[in-house]
Amino acid sequence: MTIAPHGGTLINRYQPNYEVSKIKHSVELDVIALRDLELIGIGAYSPLTGFLNKSDYDSVVENMRLSDGTVWSIPITLPVDENKALSLNVGEETKLVHHGEVYGVLRIQDKFKPDKLKEAEFVYRTTELAHPGVVKLFERPAVYLGGEIILTKKPEKLFPGETYEPAESRQQFEERGWKTVVGFQTRNPVHRAHEYIQKTALETVDGLFLQPLVGKTKNDDIPADVRMKSYRVLLENYYPKDRVLLGVFPAAMRYAGPREAVFHAMVRKNYGCTHFIVGRDHAGVGNYYGTYDSQKIFSNFTKEELGITPLFFEHSFYCLKCDSMASLKTCPHSNEDRLILSGTKVRTLLRNGEALPSTFSRPEVVQVLVEGLAEKVPQ
Ligand code: ADX
Repeated sequence: MTIAPHGGTLINRYQPNYEVSKIKHSVELDVIALRDLELIGIGAYSPLTGFLNKSDYDSVVENMRLSDGTVWSIPITLPVDENKALSLNVGEETKLVHHGEVYGVLRIQDKFKPDKLKEAEFVYRTTELAHPGVVKLFERPAVYLGGEIILTKKPEKLFPGETYEPAESRQQFEERGWKTVVGFQTRNPVHRAHEYIQKTALETVDGLFLQPLVGKTKNDDIPADVRMKSYRVLLENYYPKDRVLLGVFPAAMRYAGPREAVFHAMVRKNYGCTHFIVGRDHAGVGNYYGTYDSQKIFSNFTKEELGITPLFFEHSFYCLKCDSMASLKTCPHSNEDRLILSGTKVRTLLRNGEALPSTFSRPEVVQVLVEGLAEKVPQ
């Protein structure tokens, strides 16, 4: 028996034979909405059955809950421009299209103009356009459509062979006999600190579901295909094969820090994880969030409401005096003894083809990152 999905039922809105030919309207999806459609359809966003209607949207923005009280911290919305919105009527169906292909249908229940400043303030805790999530929020069109969806066609898998839908990952965990599974979200190459917190968690649970986010990220993040090579080489050399499953999460990154940490946890519950790692500045960007804000936010909810158990980790690093990985909780030494590199610094070193110390990143990992990035940059 795997953990119950969020809301109690694993949603399945995939109906490949759904009749779309008589539907006259169509709405073009951006890549964010396309992946959201897929993730709603396959149950990763259970209990959502569609894009948020006005009352759920207001409730999520203001209270981090759907209007029935279920915990939900990120608004999953379908933005269209005002002219398109004028041509659509509540009560009708519209096709959901991306690059000429129909992927689904929306039963339009609501169309409404959101207060995006309020959404930014509540969800991202800032209205600054320098924040990559906020700028994306404002770049997307002005009117939101809400209503249930049907997924009629699954978008192409980004990493076939390393993709498990929630029903499939649940089955994998069951086949492996894992009763407890820790989920790990990442949008970065895997470094020693990640390995340390994953393995510390693995000491107490049966399995690790390493689920890198491979949907849209900001331009200076390391591309997903290069990151995937880093995860593969690390697992191959340093992890017991029967204790780890690598499977991608195709959603876009929102960079919403604390709110996104809760969202990431709920989604991993749907994939069948019983535990979820939240380390330092989870899903954060720049200095918008406090180092542990993404952990503190969980105290707004009861254990029962969350269902999944968050595992909080302090900032971890290699300490020269300890001569091992350690964290603020376990290391008595000072910052001069610790190897701490910011994400920006790491990206700059890698892009310049410079080696990272082996105490920061495994040499095999550094090699695939440097090679992978060199291929991307025309010499
Ligand atoms: S993100 O999706 O949260 O932005 P990232 O790859 O940066 O991805 O981090 C993945 C997870 O590891 C997050 O839970 C983050 O808090 C945690 N983490 C990253 N680096 C450290 C570190 N040095 N110490 C403790 N936790 C960390």
